Amino acid sequence: MLDGHADEISRLIEPGRVHRRVYTEPAVFELEMERIFARAWLFVGHTSQVKNVGDYMTADLGRQPVMMVRHRDGKVHVLLNRCTHRGPKVLNERCGNAKRLTCCYHGWSFDTDGKLLGVPVPEGNTATFQNDQYNLARAPRVGEYRGFVFASLSPTGPSFEDHIGPMKGNIDDLVDRAPDGELALDVGMHRYVYNGNWKLQVENVLDSYHVPFGHASTVNQQGVQFARREGDKEGAAVVEVKEKKTATSWKDRKSFIVGNGHGWTSNTELADGKRSSPAFDAYKKALVEKVGAVRAEEILKPRLHNSMIYPNMSIMGLNIHVRVIKPIAVDRTEVTIYPIRLLGAPDSMNWGNIRLLNVTHSAASFVQTDDLESFVRAQKGLRSLHTDWVDISRGLGAEDADPEINAVRGLATHELAVRAQYKAWLGYMQGAA
Ligand code: FES
Ligand SMILES: [Fe+2]
Repeated sequence: MLDGHADEISRLIEPGRVHRRVYTEPAVFELEMERIFARAWLFVGHTSQVKNVGDYMTADLGRQPVMMVRHRDGKVHVLLNRCTHRGPKVLNERCGNAKRLTCCYHGWSFDTDGKLLGVPVPEGNTATFQNDQYNLARAPRVGEYRGFVFASLSPTGPSFEDHIGPMKGNIDDLVDRAPDGELALDVGMHRYVYNGNWKLQVENVLDSYHVPFGHASTVNQQGVQFARREGDKEGAAVVEVKEKKTATSWKDRKSFIVGNGHGWTSNTELADGKRSSPAFDAYKKALVEKVGAVRAEEILKPRLHNSMIYPNMSIMGLNIHVRVIKPIAVDRTEVTIYPIRLLGAPDSMNWGNIRLLNVTHSAASFVQTDDLESFVRAQKGLRSLHTDWVDISRGLGAEDADPEINAVRGLATHELAVRAQYKAWLGYMQGAA
């Protein structure tokens, strides 16, 4: 059994490999809940999910239930979803709107900034009872960048700026695609739960190696994937059909890492400038009107997608969405996928994006289901006691610096992004309380 000492944890990770216990051992998962999910900056939600006063959404940061609520002064609060009387979750729905937040058990009610407003039958209170001693607890630290709200459940640790700084450009890349410079995550979601460890999904987000094989049923027919994007006739060439091998353009794609477990892959081959359809053309026109032709051209060639903001959120650029990864147990994970509405883009363009996401990433989609099958098989295979190590050594030693964007880069079919995640993992896991 794991005793949680830094030495013992460090033995689980070696250069280019990870011990199978990292995925299978409940004691490792318990420590992750304490040392990663109760401390790290985690994505909570987007301000567009609580647009109006009284709007709320609930989430779990690791095991701790939280709520994000819009107060009357317009401020968004991240509060612990735990009644200060005897403990129940105050809000039980995933999202909604409320004037006040009332606990189901004895009816204590709280304001949308967490202040205790009233206690039924107050004559039973002790003489020293004061409402302000019973406000809902708030997340010790909250940070926001362009509508993306993150919280840390630890009062200490690296600042929000230190954490998110290297990934701001990735968020900009996405948000700038909206002609109004703003996004909304208000068009529903896809949610799936799989019987596998949460890190299998995190590793997969930047894994370009698996695409020609794991997604053979969608990429091999014509050698393209995601050609269903609004106005996109070509898509990304993943395989060369005649030669039956991974396409050179795919093999040449790059991955980048910037510390903290964060990273991204480039999508430069997509040449969004060449996309054309009535909806996409109207979108381009709206973008040019807002930002000018030169800037629009730059925006349509995003460099920084797909992105992993370690440990629980990713931005996918090909078929745009935000993904939130929530560990439930050592072998069970919930993933939520939010389609993105680009404000200022024509509805037809936004609907095109949502339709594509239905095809690629819904629970019954052509693409995401392939990955889930791999995760579930991995979790089963890792029960084997006769092969201890998971290999993540592709491209080890072949990384080099990209001074222009202050990152380390390698080929996207290499595993540098996964190694970077385990470096961050080890840092969190070795940090004593
Ligand atoms: S437990 Fe919430 S009001 Fe009593
Ligand atoms: Fe995949």
